[in-house]
Amino acid sequence: MRTELSFANLSGIETELLAVLAADTQTAKGPDAKPEPVLLTADEAVKAAVAAVLASGEYKAGSNETLLLHAPAGLRAKRLLIIGLGKQAKATVHNVRNAAGTAVRFTKPRGIRELVFALPVSESLPSAASVRAAVEGAFVGDFDADTYRSDRKDLSVQSFTLAAPGTDQAAAKAAFAEGLIIGESQNFTRTLVNEPGNVLTPTVFGQRAAAMAKEVGLACEVHSTEKLHELKMGAFWSVSQGSEEPPALIVMRYEPTGVADGPVLGLVGKGITFDTGGISIKPSDNMEKMKYDMAGGAAMVGAMRAIALLKPRVRVIGIVCASENMPDGKAQKPGDVQTAMSGKTIEIINTDAEGRLVLADGLAYAKQLGATHLIDAATLTGACVVALGMVNGGAFSNDDDTFQKFNAALATSGEKFWRLPLGEEYAEMIKSDIGDIKNTGGRWGGAITAAEFLKVFAEDTPWIHLDIAGLAWIEDSRPYIAKGPSGTAVRSILEWVRSYSA
Ligand code: BES
Ligand code: MN
Ligand code: ZN
Repeated sequence: MRTELSFANLSGIETELLAVLAADTQTAKGPDAKPEPVLLTADEAVKAAVAAVLASGEYKAGSNETLLLHAPAGLRAKRLLIIGLGKQAKATVHNVRNAAGTAVRFTKPRGIRELVFALPVSESLPSAASVRAAVEGAFVGDFDADTYRSDRKDLSVQSFTLAAPGTDQAAAKAAFAEGLIIGESQNFTRTLVNEPGNVLTPTVFGQRAAAMAKEVGLACEVHSTEKLHELKMGAFWSVSQGSEEPPALIVMRYEPTGVADGPVLGLVGKGITFDTGGISIKPSDNMEKMKYDMAGGAAMVGAMRAIALLKPRVRVIGIVCASENMPDGKAQKPGDVQTAMSGKTIEIINTDAEGRLVLADGLAYAKQLGATHLIDAATLTGACVVALGMVNGGAFSNDDDTFQKFNAALATSGEKFWRLPLGEEYAEMIKSDIGDIKNTGGRWGGAITAAEFLKVFAEDTPWIHLDIAGLAWIEDSRPYIAKGPSGTAVRSILEWVRSYSA
């Protein structure tokens, strides 16, 4: 998608499609309170072109509600698309992000290849933040998961122009450049997550990460079996040992010049390229979904891409523990005891609780490489989906200040995570009779006992755990995003990292 930023007046822009936002200003409630949509633009000609239809009451400016006009009077655009933000009092830049996605997804199936999106003019929508969100949303909307359809028509929008007349040009340009990097990075993650397990093996995952790293100037090493043995990563290896495909330990490093001290952030992602459950095998219904069990790892790769391009002044290490989880003659068995890199012994109760095993060694390795703060992302538990649905991701932390920074990052990213508790009583649930801990804590509080397991390996290092099992894959398309991989957590992790920039 080619992108451009324009400061020209809307009515003078010649284009196939001009998208303008509207919001409902009605504040009264009750049966007689009719929507009062207004157009969020200062352009009188555009307002005049839609005055009649807005007055008709047919269009309510509901969230992502669209209305298309052909040959709008007084404008040079061939089509005018109105997109609703919902109630004006509640509209935020996150609605603008979605509206831009809606504009792109409206355009795509109609075979229209270019579009101009007008930055909304409203006191409650800061313009630089709206510029950035709009560009992010446009990229997010442009992605479709149908890569392997032989009759696939590439309908992607080829030219996206953001029209921002009357805004501070320098600020808008900077925000625009940022939004582009972030949107592309989120889509890079989605492309990885979308790949089937036979294409994206751990080895190929490593190759894709290394190719990206080379492109953006990140240091990247991809290790395999030998290195796992050398580092005594008994937890990680226990998952890989039952697979013909070798594991990949992906290590990416971002080291900005002149930043010799201060925090080192360790980003650790679960990269299970296919999760059968292992010997504790999963039922076949929906097992195909388990190709996205590497979404946490892919989020870290996408975040590292954005970090390399946006250049925050803080050192970052990105680690992905990539493996298949397969049943085989060599696969680990329930009852086996494994020794993790940290020296802790783990009794395997269920081989399907494999994510925490690979992360245990990933977290320990990040610490060994010098990480002072840790964040991990993983499609870790079905229990987290039961608790929070497909709306909020689960977040856990052993340090309130570190979590506060993450929570603040959510205000910028627009992603939803809900903090769940940790505690001694939960830690009790994963004590083992034969070793230090066991890899499952029974039926109740499954997302929490999984987090308690990881906490054992984060030790005293400030740490955040994100369980994205319910968010990594979108089951039904929305006006602004296709069904399939979401790229969740890339934006939030990136913002959290940037909050440490010196
Ligand atoms: N990859 C799954 C978790 C998952 C479930 C991701 C649904 C996405 C959607 C994970 O490895 C797993 O199998 N977890 C088990 C843990 C249990 C055995 C303690 C689960 O959640 O059932
Ligand atoms: Mn599993
Ligand atoms: Zn898994």
